[in-house]
Amino acid sequence: MRIPLSAPELSGNERRYVEECLASGWVSSAGAFVERFEGLAAAAVGRRYGVAVMNGTSALHLALLVAGVAAGDEVVTSALSFVAPANAIRYVGARPLFVDAEPESWQLDVARLEEHIEQHFERREGGWFRRTSGRRLAALLPVDILGMAADWQRLTSLAAKYELPLIEDASESLGAWDRGAPVGSFGLCACLSFNGNKLVTCGGGGMLVSDDEELARRARHLSTTAKVDPIEYRHDEVGYNYRLTNLQAALGCAQIERLEELVARKRAIASRYRAALADLPGLESMPQRDGVESSCWLFTITVDVDAFGCDSRALLRALARAGIESRPLWQPLHASDAHRDSDSVGGSVAADLYARALCLPSSVGLTTAEQDEVIDAIRQTHERCGVTRR
Ligand SMILES: Cc1ncc(COP(=O)(O)O)c(C=O)c1O
Repeated sequence: MRIPLSAPELSGNERRYVEECLASGWVSSAGAFVERFEGLAAAAVGRRYGVAVMNGTSALHLALLVAGVAAGDEVVTSALSFVAPANAIRYVGARPLFVDAEPESWQLDVARLEEHIEQHFERREGGWFRRTSGRRLAALLPVDILGMAADWQRLTSLAAKYELPLIEDASESLGAWDRGAPVGSFGLCACLSFNGNKLVTCGGGGMLVSDDEELARRARHLSTTAKVDPIEYRHDEVGYNYRLTNLQAALGCAQIERLEELVARKRAIASRYRAALADLPGLESMPQRDGVESSCWLFTITVDVDAFGCDSRALLRALARAGIESRPLWQPLHASDAHRDSDSVGGSVAADLYARALCLPSSVGLTTAEQDEVIDAIRQTHERCGVTRR
């Protein structure tokens, strides 16, 4: 595609740091850039500790392990999300409990979750258990989607009320703020992704961030094969080979030192789209919740077929013909073949957004001329579809 959805922008110190890393010979999972990157990323989200790993999914896996989630438990997560948190829950043998999105913000519907816990779970020794199956509710893993923030004030009080560990999947929303606190700073720990399409990228990478020293130490231990001696190959439990390499961390350092600049660029792109598309019938921009300063990672619209003239997939195809990449949202996870047998709370909001939403090109390096092309292509599609329908 001539105009990609979300391409990395590498015009800062990226090349210099990677060359420094190559020159040092420290390209693998030890080296100064890894530590530096952990410090920079943890500080950016107001946390004391960062454990750099190979991707966001492995950070989620470790987070669930260190939060004490065990096989047979249930873990709450968002129905409207990329599949990674649901997969991570399954890696530890637990079952996802998918909660629908709320229409006002597209984030996890906290009120419906609370209602569900009250109706279907009861307090017994050792926690909250599902009345029918006896399964333990072991943790909450809400996702901040598309650069926005879940409702962390309400989630934090819900987690306190039911004494549940709260894990934040902040993979898509680094750089956003909720009521004056950075996304990534909520709960027991949070997980970040530095995949190629993310605001800050290492090529591939992830991080678990926390203020809990012991939790971070255990996550680091598990990420390095649970080796107990620097020389001897002795391991005290089943560990993982999840560490980030110095080469990837070098890229990450150069990216994260530009965090403010990258976020400012994303916000400018989003506000330009918002203004330019406001008068088009049947198109709505993703809603913003009061108190949240979104990082605007991926600018997303909904398409109403009757008012706009065609649906989101027809618009996707029309944009693709013009060399413009756009993408739908994720199939709701409770409807996914991979996770279909899990429990879910609601789901119609996520299903509706799956049908109607479309993410538009939002690369940091998107030029004004390119963005104008996207806007023109959307307008032309509306005009053509309108004519066809008449
Ligand atoms: C919400 C969410 N969680 C987790 C991940 C997993 O990150 P990674 O691709 O780095 O494994 C992603 C995206 O990639 C994501 O969007």
